[in-house]
Amino acid sequence: MRIIIVGFGVVGQSFVKILLSKSAELYSTFGLNPRVVACVDSNGMAISQDGLDLGRLLEAKRMNKSVLAYHEKTICLNTSDLIENTEAEVMIEATPTNLENGEPGISHIVSAMKSKKHVITVNKGPLALAFASLLELSNYNNVRLAFSGTVGGGTPILEFAKKCLRGDRILSFRGILNGTTNYILSKMEEEGFTFQEALADAKQAGYAEASPKLDIEGYDAAAKLVIMANWIMSRKVSIGDVPRLGISDVNLNMIRNAHNNGKAIRLIAYCDTDELNVMPLEIQRDDPICVTGTLNAVTFSCEYSGEKTIVGRGAGGLETASAILRDLIEIRESISNPFD
Ligand code: HSE
Repeated sequence: MRIIIVGFGVVGQSFVKILLSKSAELYSTFGLNPRVVACVDSNGMAISQDGLDLGRLLEAKRMNKSVLAYHEKTICLNTSDLIENTEAEVMIEATPTNLENGEPGISHIVSAMKSKKHVITVNKGPLALAFASLLELSNYNNVRLAFSGTVGGGTPILEFAKKCLRGDRILSFRGILNGTTNYILSKMEEEGFTFQEALADAKQAGYAEASPKLDIEGYDAAAKLVIMANWIMSRKVSIGDVPRLGISDVNLNMIRNAHNNGKAIRLIAYCDTDELNVMPLEIQRDDPICVTGTLNAVTFSCEYSGEKTIVGRGAGGLETASAILRDLIEIRESISNPFD
């Protein structure tokens, strides 16, 4: 399967590392033989229709900070032209999330779909702003739009709701959708870190967004909430519809007071058929969604089967890359079994 990777930060590189270390298993178990034919980062691109040497690609990125150094001569193409004119089955969109206009992610996704390529995106911006139209475009072009990694990092929150709870009706859900803020709040509570120390740690570990304001002010959680609301609850909403409050006003005193009352402060996202919001709330310490570190947790309230909670790591390069791999395997299977 020929793949174009657009965006080669922590997640894109982690995905390539997984491909390098698992290639034999991917083939023997899933019949998957991925070939990365182009890779684009913010400084340039590397292209080979025979498949890029992934070890060399990672080395070029590590040594020179760009895949540009993969070739001796600089290749200079517009990214959308590259996507449209390169023969490939799948385009992976992993550029940083932009919640103002969704670009350049939206253009990349549209270019891929118009040229009949399946899309895997871990970029939340396009879906938080234009979920319905992108899904419609994918249907029109008969290609898949896969986005497991946009919510929950490596934790299959979307698949859990969509597939495991099939037949039941989800009435509402509430949970922690942002790893960085959860990491900050739990470090402040458990280890007495200051807000800035905890944020610096989260940045260093690659959990935070390129612009950490997206995490701290609740935009990232709101974007994920929108994706879930559209996909799981069939709500037609976008990020502007979400009342939102971040954690920048949460201080150590508030955290200690909550702690002394058997509670913890967490950034909670909530959705039912009418309401939708993101805000810091005190929750009971024994609430199943009261997780620590970069864990995400969501409790779904279902009509027949009651409440169920899914918990797992919500941020991180390898974690999110594992979601890309899940999507890729599913696309591979859908190509082999188109009626599934
Ligand atoms: N910045 C995001 C988070 C990354 O902390 O949850 C995963 O979407």
